[in-house]
Amino acid sequence: MLLEKIEALKAQIETLKADNSEALEALRIKYLSKKGEVSALFNEFRNVPPEHKKEFGQRLNELKTLATDKINSLRERFHSQEADETSHLDLTRPSLPLTVGTRHPLNVVRKQIIDIFSRVGFTLADGPEVEDDLHVFTSLNFAADHPARDMQDTFFVAEDKDDVKRNIVLRSHTSSVQSRVMLTSQPPIRIICPGRVYRNEAITARAHCFFHQIEGLYIDRNVSFADLKQMLLYFAQELFGPDTKIRLRPSYFPFTEPSAEMDVSCMLCGGEGCSFCKHTGWVEILGCGMVDPNVLDLCGIDSSKYTGYAFGVGVERITNLKYMVKDLRMFSENDTRFLEEFQAIH
Ligand code: PHE
Repeated sequence: MLLEKIEALKAQIETLKADNSEALEALRIKYLSKKGEVSALFNEFRNVPPEHKKEFGQRLNELKTLATDKINSLRERFHSQEADETSHLDLTRPSLPLTVGTRHPLNVVRKQIIDIFSRVGFTLADGPEVEDDLHVFTSLNFAADHPARDMQDTFFVAEDKDDVKRNIVLRSHTSSVQSRVMLTSQPPIRIICPGRVYRNEAITARAHCFFHQIEGLYIDRNVSFADLKQMLLYFAQELFGPDTKIRLRPSYFPFTEPSAEMDVSCMLCGGEGCSFCKHTGWVEILGCGMVDPNVLDLCGIDSSKYTGYAFGVGVERITNLKYMVKDLRMFSENDTRFLEEFQAIH
């Protein structure tokens, strides 16, 4: 009798199935709990005559193992199915957004300035940042004792105290590129020279030990101060808008004569006077002048035939004016919150 019950239960257990964890738990309770069907047979075992106990005992243990294995294997299959479902890949989902960098504001403004001059025929010229004295100073009419050669302004890479002409420096203006072009070619010359320049200054909100310039040079027959003025008016109006006015104030540079500094009408108040322009209605933006005939001669260009003008703009200065950046140091700190503000500007 007991034997038959064992066999019947065995057959049942072998065909067990469960679809979810609740069904599986119900099966475990039905067969393996203290009041379950397998345990019930163990209770009956008490009544088995001693001579059969060994055989029945073995069979009952086999049944229990069978039931335990079956339920464990169902649980495993069931779990791996669930895991499969959760790791299911959805290839149609949109990908995570890519973070795209932004153009640096100085590069944006540099490009705007280059574009303005390219449209009227200026081409780009380039030169080294580590320069010799000839290109930075001597060929540009700086006297041997000119204060700009002094340690306060210039970074010396190699200094020769006995002969300043042998000095190697970090260029303090991109006029060095103009002298390179004048020394190696003949007019007509119409170039702009964008680049980084270095000056030995304490780093503050208003000054840095390096900044960026774009200098322009035009040399041909009959180039006049009126040509310079008209070109600068065109530049200012393209950059700050068609209502912009300019004014020139006399100034001094060793390589230009006459020399001037140019102001534009204040872009905030339109010339009325406000705190930004210190109530003058004007803000200074560049230095310029007619190329000194000495410079032409020093660079191998015949000053009796040719005249020319030159100008130099600071890229940081223009960027500050256009986008109201108050602290120069922001440009080189790589704070992405600052850089992202220029995302929409190209
Ligand atoms: N080189 C001058 C500077 O660095 C700018 C300038 C260029 C002035 C050309 C006049 C003509 O300040």
